[in-house]
Amino acid sequence: MGALESSLEDETLQSTKIKNLKEIRFHLQDKEHVVKTEDIDPNTSLNFYLRNHLHLTGTKVMCREGGCGSCVVVLQNKDPVTHKNIFLAVNSCLVPILSISGWKIYTIEGIGDPLNGYHPIQKVLALFNGTQCGFCSPAMVMNMFALYESGKLTMEEVENSFGGNICRCTGYRPILAAFKSLCGDANPELLGQYPDIEDLVVCQREKCGWEYIEKCDEMAKVPTYTLLKNSSKWIRVHTLRDLLKTMRSFTSSTYRLVAGNTAQGVYLSYANPVDLYIDVTSVPELSGYEFRGNSLILGANITLSNTIDVFRKIAQTYPNFSYLNQMANHIDLIANLPVRNRGTIAGNLTIKHDYNEFPSDMFLLLETVGALLTIVTVDGTQTIQRPSDFIKSDMKLKVLQKITLPEHPKSVKFISYKIMPRAQNVHAMVNAGFLFQFRTNLQLENVTIVYGNINDEFVHASNTEKILKGANLFDNQTLQAAFGTLSLELQADERPPDPSPRYRQQLAISLFYKAVLYLAPDHLLSPKNLSGGPILQRPVSNGTQDYETNQSLYPLTKPIPKLEALAQTSGQAKFIDDMPDLPNQLYGALVLAHAPPNSRIIHIDSKKALEVDGVVAFFSKDHIPGDNNFTPLGIAFISSEEEIFCSGRVMYYQQPIGIVVGRRDDIVQYASTLVEVVYEESNVEPLLSTRQILRSGRGDRIINVRTVQPRRRGNDVRHVIKGTFDIYQQYHFHMELQCCNVVPTEDGLDVYPSTQWMDLTQIAIANMLNIPNSRVNVTVRRCGGAFGAKISRNGLVACAAALASWKLRQPVKLSLPLRTNMAALGKRFPLSMDYEVGVNDSGVIQYLNCTHYMDVGAQANEDLSNEMVTLFMSAYDPDTFTIDVNKTITDTPTNSWARAPGSLEGLASLEAIMEHIAFSLNLDPLELRLRNLKTGVPLAPYINDLKTWADIDARKQEIDNFNKENRWKKKGLAAVPMAYELVIGGPYAAMVSIFHGDGSVQVGHGGIEIGQGINTKVAQVCAYKLGIPLEKVSIVPSTSFAAANSLQTGSSITSEAVCYGTIQACDQLLARIKPVRDRLGNPSWGELIQECFAEYVDLTARGQYSPNEPNIQTYEVYGACASEILLDVLTGQYLITRVDLLEDTGQSMSPVIDIGQIEGAFVMGMGYHTTEQIVYSYEGRLLTNRTWNYYPPGARDIPINFNVKFPKNNPNPVGVLKSKATGEPPTCLSMSVPLAVRHAVASARADAGEAIGWYPIDGPTTVENAFLNCLNDYTHYTL
Ligand SMILES: Cc1cc2nc3c(=O)[nH]c(=O)nc-3n(C[C@H](O)[C@H](O)[C@H](O)COP(=O)(O)OP(=O)(O)OC[C@H]3O[C@@H](n4cnc5c(N)ncnc54)[C@H](O)[C@@H]3O)c2cc1C
Ligand code: FES
Ligand code: FES
Repeated sequence: MGALESSLEDETLQSTKIKNLKEIRFHLQDKEHVVKTEDIDPNTSLNFYLRNHLHLTGTKVMCREGGCGSCVVVLQNKDPVTHKNIFLAVNSCLVPILSISGWKIYTIEGIGDPLNGYHPIQKVLALFNGTQCGFCSPAMVMNMFALYESGKLTMEEVENSFGGNICRCTGYRPILAAFKSLCGDANPELLGQYPDIEDLVVCQREKCGWEYIEKCDEMAKVPTYTLLKNSSKWIRVHTLRDLLKTMRSFTSSTYRLVAGNTAQGVYLSYANPVDLYIDVTSVPELSGYEFRGNSLILGANITLSNTIDVFRKIAQTYPNFSYLNQMANHIDLIANLPVRNRGTIAGNLTIKHDYNEFPSDMFLLLETVGALLTIVTVDGTQTIQRPSDFIKSDMKLKVLQKITLPEHPKSVKFISYKIMPRAQNVHAMVNAGFLFQFRTNLQLENVTIVYGNINDEFVHASNTEKILKGANLFDNQTLQAAFGTLSLELQADERPPDPSPRYRQQLAISLFYKAVLYLAPDHLLSPKNLSGGPILQRPVSNGTQDYETNQSLYPLTKPIPKLEALAQTSGQAKFIDDMPDLPNQLYGALVLAHAPPNSRIIHIDSKKALEVDGVVAFFSKDHIPGDNNFTPLGIAFISSEEEIFCSGRVMYYQQPIGIVVGRRDDIVQYASTLVEVVYEESNVEPLLSTRQILRSGRGDRIINVRTVQPRRRGNDVRHVIKGTFDIYQQYHFHMELQCCNVVPTEDGLDVYPSTQWMDLTQIAIANMLNIPNSRVNVTVRRCGGAFGAKISRNGLVACAAALASWKLRQPVKLSLPLRTNMAALGKRFPLSMDYEVGVNDSGVIQYLNCTHYMDVGAQANEDLSNEMVTLFMSAYDPDTFTIDVNKTITDTPTNSWARAPGSLEGLASLEAIMEHIAFSLNLDPLELRLRNLKTGVPLAPYINDLKTWADIDARKQEIDNFNKENRWKKKGLAAVPMAYELVIGGPYAAMVSIFHGDGSVQVGHGGIEIGQGINTKVAQVCAYKLGIPLEKVSIVPSTSFAAANSLQTGSSITSEAVCYGTIQACDQLLARIKPVRDRLGNPSWGELIQECFAEYVDLTARGQYSPNEPNIQTYEVYGACASEILLDVLTGQYLITRVDLLEDTGQSMSPVIDIGQIEGAFVMGMGYHTTEQIVYSYEGRLLTNRTWNYYPPGARDIPINFNVKFPKNNPNPVGVLKSKATGEPPTCLSMSVPLAVRHAVASARADAGEAIGWYPIDGPTTVENAFLNCLNDYTHYTL
């Protein structure tokens, strides 16, 4: 009898050798931890355990699917392949706690803190201003920590390793600069930036833990068995034999092998409960590799990261395996580093097996190179299969054991592609693998052509393979025959939100052509086609930041890191979800309507949800004592009431209809899916966009806001140009999701929302509960990113949590899961425009008639049509403009502010018109802009400065030459100016208290720290005004008490406004202490304050900025920006090669904070215009609702060379302390990116035979969009 044929409880598992584990042990930092398994269920993740059991909340959580990286921790272990000690970044959200027995884990708390000193990585990230909201920071540090400890420290490696860590705030440049400064090959500029960096490079941390892990290895030979609380079993095996025996013993159970456990990041079904979990991570036969001269054999559960290492090693030594290098490059594009560190080949292939539509890169690669898979049944029988047979086979009670890779002699050429909508961390839109076996230099013996993401069935382009057999590949006729055959056999299906079938099919053909261009001997190719072969190569990024400071005003104008920077980089900075649970803590989950808009709710039945163990209550609109409304009328920007819970008519798919409350978050999330709702379904077609409304003729959905009449009309109309312009929604992608924690007090509620607007939260909750505003205390320490999404939208979340807390008199936390957050709440206002413009021969506008439609979603709130019009009319002479401004009501969630709301759309729409004129008249776009500038707006100097600084004329010439010489790679450059009007609304309060004990100072203000550095600016201003060191000033959380009635944090102006309030408060204090100071002569600050205290001087003062302040007036922020891109016409992918951004910041109060705002804003806008696309199903269900299908820019999407400059000696006479705001305006300047792509595309269109390069702007310039607009046609694909 074998080891596993017997057991403790189960007849079949009776063995003296199996060890029944009632607990698991692991090392966390330097301490051993014991986890009692009886309370654990198999889906308990390491992240949940760290945050909820150990209260180590430095590790964050957001997407729970491996896509955002905010949960990264570091695993120290022995590499199963090399047996070396390794440090691996892993996504703690995907690591089951049960699988970490014997591991050593590091979290952010373990590598440095204020007590024991910070780790060098934590320090550099803070020093380089690499934090804004700070939500991503701990995981950024941990990802770097793993690299740092592994000794992998070239700048290239560092830049390549952050694809899985999303940061929405910074634009990545400072994060990458910080981490690259720790690299052996760091640029002198980086090292010179902070002279003491050299000292930081030596890590002081003690190495330890190996003894423990070695010991564990010894113990680990015996299979372990854990009975879990839901009577499922977790068995960890250490040999293949034990694995097969275990499976044999439980033939009647549902089971899952647990390797990296990352597949649930792709398909949630992999998280469904089963009877038996078999942890295979410690089976050496499955994770090692063996080289046998003419084949390489990999254990099927080798991780993707290890596979890359093994492939590189073998390719280097054995010429017949050099193709593995390309495979390694391709695998490097799968997922992201933490996922690859855990995810395995077998897991990847199994996903493809279970879901044939999955665009598996491993499957593609292995099928192309002729790899064979060894499958073993539970009785030990082995079968060998090609991957394409494997995905059709029955894998029940079978294990994928080995993968055998053959050698390929030099005459065989392997090429593969993965074309993605952004640089990293996305699945393929189309992937392709080609294996060309040559008989002679030109003639093929055979060819393998494999594509992914065409349709569920498609694997090989078999017909094309056939016709190419024996053919001369480098022959135009052969190629045309191949393309023709491909176009017939590639039948791409509709699979929204993935790109269109047309794109995927044409792309697949292009990739084949690309491979041929790559392989063809140069002399056979037209020189213009040569550059079509190679894929785009991205070098390490860099940039400059040029600003001036005024030392005489320090700490004002001093470039300093954020006050909270070290707290953020060390995980000490707390967010709402990090608040420890109170006794009787409850959690909430929203129940959403799953019915098309205009359906009616007939009945809601919560019985099944309430039967779930741990669920306490369900509340809907019927339980609301007061107003079912989270947008109270009578406060700024709010014009319609929005329901907290749907009262009958479903306004949009996934509208919230109630809240389930219970003892654990996972329980209530599950229970929320059990609430049964009966609808009377609507058969009216939902109207999801303005164009749909216009087509439907539904005038009732269009509200005219105003019409701007022209002052004159020019009489030199030589050309009339007409067009349309459409841009859509943008999801804010704040890393801290919408949440709120509400704690009942003896007379009301303490509310901790992640909001930008305390006032709205307070009023909405009070109205909902019919209680006085004064019973609702709102406190906000910070938001983990907001970008406008938390101005009014958080009100719904706060009200829902408050209702539950009020009803139950227990604390309730409500944190929306990502999918709910994305689906239930509104986004950036889409804008559509129809225009007709008449111009003279020089392009000067004689008249412009345009109709704008701003899509507000289901209801109109936060109206920004004025801001849109203001920007539209701000830079160029608007006297001839007729602007008809409308709002449209669509069946989508009510939209809301998103960074530079209205303004971005206003600038983008006018710049599109400018560009259209330039294209139509073939004029220099910048000249055209200069000719149309509005008088009195000083934009000409900005444009001229930009031209010289960015060397625009010479670069344009170089680009023209490049474009003439290259058919399949194109460059484009575009520049836009900006005049961004800022109106500083209010009120905003600030309260300053000086403590008599030591003269230290606290400031509380009515703004919200959302990452923009408001606290740092306030502290700088306060220290400057009081004449004390910055270290004496601290900022306390914002509260509705200290800063009652303050307006929302938004519109970029809040920092200035609260600084003004702070100045007022400081002025009052200075006036109060002046007599004492005068009397004492020249006292120290401490003596002065002591004496003031002794004389009963009130050392607390409050200031309030209001728009009535005469010194502060509306002003404009000027800027100009040029972007250059390099486009691969054959794929549609492009690199943003250089951006030069000039922005007027007045006299910057805090230059590196402002640089951070500018870079971050630009990259967020760039994402909107390039990679971020929102897709709905026809009935209005959001399809882009997760990190798997919505793509904000990643670290390798940012400009390769990014230069930011502030004009010198440029005080703003009407701004606070001569400064200007920076938070939003640069978002608008990102319009230069899609326009630059357009220039490149125009050149491709010209080459394709299209006379004018213009085409309507319809949504973001995605890779698909760029490709399709290039008018690629395979008949043009020649050698
Ligand atoms: C954010 C993210 C991005 C991704 N991007 C890409 C991408 O761009 N391209 C791509 O191709 N993939 C991508 N993936 C998929 C990724 O490669 C897989 O999640 C990973 O390889 C799965 O391996 P695993 O070990 O974690 O599998 P697990 O989650 O542990 O297991 C998955 C399934 O495989 C089965 N299984 C595991 N081992 C065996 C075995 N030896 N025999 C039989 N069955 C077995 C298990 O029973 C289970 O059903 C991505 C994943 C994530 C989370
Ligand atoms: S929370 Fe783990 S990757 Fe997003
Ligand atoms: S600082 Fe990176 S997400 Fe906010």
